[in-house]
Amino acid sequence: MATCWPEPIVSVQSLSQTGVPTVPNRYVKPAHQRPVFNTTQSDAGMEIPVLDMNDVWGKPEGLRLVRSACEEWGFFQMVNHGVNHSLMERVRGAWREFFELPLEEKRKYANSPDTYEGYGSRLGVVKDAKLDWSDYFFLNYLPSSIRNPSKWPSQPPKIRELIEEYGEEVRKLCERLTETLSESLGLSPNKLMQALGGGDKVGASLRTNFYPKCPQPQLTLGLSSHSDPGGITILLPDEKVAGLQVRRGDGWITIKSVPNALIVNIGDQLQILSNGIYKSVEHQVIVNFGMERVSLAFFYNPRSDIPVGPIEELVTANRPALYKPIRFDEYRSLIRQKGPCGKNQVDSLLLTR
Ligand code: OGA
Ligand code: NI
Repeated sequence: MATCWPEPIVSVQSLSQTGVPTVPNRYVKPAHQRPVFNTTQSDAGMEIPVLDMNDVWGKPEGLRLVRSACEEWGFFQMVNHGVNHSLMERVRGAWREFFELPLEEKRKYANSPDTYEGYGSRLGVVKDAKLDWSDYFFLNYLPSSIRNPSKWPSQPPKIRELIEEYGEEVRKLCERLTETLSESLGLSPNKLMQALGGGDKVGASLRTNFYPKCPQPQLTLGLSSHSDPGGITILLPDEKVAGLQVRRGDGWITIKSVPNALIVNIGDQLQILSNGIYKSVEHQVIVNFGMERVSLAFFYNPRSDIPVGPIEELVTANRPALYKPIRFDEYRSLIRQKGPCGKNQVDSLLLTR
């Protein structure tokens, strides 16, 4: 794996702050990838499901709601998810303050393609690739043995504590959700956790995305089309600014986030584990002329050093195994080289018969 980026890193936020009147060519997407701002006629009014978790936890009907959301959409919003709303606001606010710090301060945490940990402005190491209109901060959270708080930002003052506090709440939520997802697939409650490699061995990381204002949002994307490589993603979106678009057929639906909701989406590993019953759905982010946007993506992943393949009970004569097993560290390193690539990575594991 490359240890440095193929080109010097340019912070998109600084570029935006210089007041460039046009988007530099590096960020101009080919016509077929440019965003569509309005939902198509047939999708008008379509929304990803919103689940009140009070109607889900421990309720048979709830399992059916979860199942249909994961089969059909690969995405849902959760309300009454149990994560403290004020904590959500405080951690997002702290990250916003971090991105407002001078570039020299943020650069102290500059990341490299080896681990991606730290402050970065590109995904993938392909030379001359078109880049996305965003910066981010990526950090490892689980297993706690790989957690390195000295690589976490030290400013603003409370940010490390807030990351830990938020991380703990979301970890607990993911554990609970893992049981529910397991049952919704017709498995025993702890089966999916076992398949992910067990409670204290699973991985998790946090990526805070910063999407600066953009002079020509119609020409670029904040984050190109991709599916998330891991198990489950819990997204804390910006409280004011929309931007996340989810694939629906040939079009895209812009998510209208419900106040205080968290957005869940299924990653490639869960698509593999569920033998294709649950879908890791493509998504992308659009940017704005006049507004910046912040989001926190918490990725809950399998243990990285064991092969992940379809769960045995989900492989039947009628539904043979669709994917060949792969270790998550290997899978992730392939993605880390290529950067966002739609669903190409998971599709490459399809067994042909
Ligand atoms: C991601 C992602 C969406 C967003 O970080 O993988 O899809 O709204 N983020 O920032
Ligand atoms: Ni994503």
